[in-house]
Amino acid sequence: MAGSYIHIPFCKSKCNYCNFYSVASLELKADYINALLKEIELQKDYLKNEKVETIYFGGGTPSLLSSDEINKIINGIKKYFEIETNPEITLEVNPESLSKEKAKEISETLINRLSIGVQSLFDDDLKYIGRIHNAKQSLEAIKNAKEYGFKNLSIDLIYGIPTLTNEKWISNLEQMFLLEVPHISAYSLTAEPNTPLFNSIEKGKLNKIDEEKTAVQFEILMKLMSENNYVHYEISNFCKEGFYSKHNSSYWKQKKYLGIGASAHSYNEISRQWNVSDNKKYINSLKNNTIPFEKEILTENQKYNEYILTTMRTIWGTDADYIKNNFGEFYSGYFICQSDKFVKSEKMINKNNIFVLSNDGKIIADTIISSLFI
Ligand SMILES: C[S@@+](CC[C@H](N)C(=O)[O-])C[C@H]1O[C@@H](n2cnc3c(N)ncnc32)[C@H](O)[C@@H]1O
Repeated sequence: MAGSYIHIPFCKSKCNYCNFYSVASLELKADYINALLKEIELQKDYLKNEKVETIYFGGGTPSLLSSDEINKIINGIKKYFEIETNPEITLEVNPESLSKEKAKEISETLINRLSIGVQSLFDDDLKYIGRIHNAKQSLEAIKNAKEYGFKNLSIDLIYGIPTLTNEKWISNLEQMFLLEVPHISAYSLTAEPNTPLFNSIEKGKLNKIDEEKTAVQFEILMKLMSENNYVHYEISNFCKEGFYSKHNSSYWKQKKYLGIGASAHSYNEISRQWNVSDNKKYINSLKNNTIPFEKEILTENQKYNEYILTTMRTIWGTDADYIKNNFGEFYSGYFICQSDKFVKSEKMINKNNIFVLSNDGKIIADTIISSLFI
């Protein structure tokens, strides 16, 4: 079973914190979709006949696509790949684009899961991170999604925004509980180098992100989610039973995935490859039947590190026996030795050789994970 990811690198306007590849112009959209269809055809053997169980439209802003464009792309995948019955097909949506008409239009496609980028329900937070929607539009978007039958709904939230107090963070979460949103992705705000957010903070034009406050908000998040019966199945992801994101779970369970589009990454257990992050180059290259990508054959160390990175953040944990059987005793010995101090300090729990982070460990997940790397 494998996953497929389609990158839609167009936005109405760029958010100041985002370093995903996208451009704020729709000029090349039609040519880009033709290039996507060509790449799907050229990559038809990449998954070696494994069935596709998830399709994920990410961005950028995939909700800028019309239903015809969405159908064209899904039909392209269906034409060249074997698809699982009832695949999970997700569309990332920006709140300002999900009017009633748009929700209706999307409901008439095969999209069966929406991920809405709400981020915060306070307009000053949205302003700080450069969003073009307001809180009212987000609430309307959620209502419209529900009205048109989208039960499998995920909301993205961001904490650690300097304008977000703990009280506002609690209120954001409580509104999600009242709305009975079954899946929540909550990310801590990071100022990625070369983003406008990073540059504004460097120049003192915007307040710095306070790491201690961010850690407190992460603790609030874990507490409230658990009290409201959400499963904390990955550091940034929470859901009600039955609403796991199959697509993201397949990244964390080392399944193969095929990424289509500018800047999209693919992985097939042996190598990782990534397409050029430039729409013009991507389109021109595909006009000549060539996919513009770079590729890296993974070394044993990289495969081990990848296994640690993807499993340690999840509820399913890192399996020392799997490491021994797949990488050998040197790697499992190294893993157990490096984990020891975290197990002793109760940052990690070892259950029958499967290691998972405790809540205290999740707060310093990045530090723990990097010390487990080779
Ligand atoms: C690739 S983005 C695109 C989603 C959608 N277009 C939107 O913005 O509503 C997916 C999610 O990643 C999160 N994200 C992206 N960059 C981030 C950053 N620097 N810090 C925290 N969260 C970030 C946001 O919550 C965002 O909704």
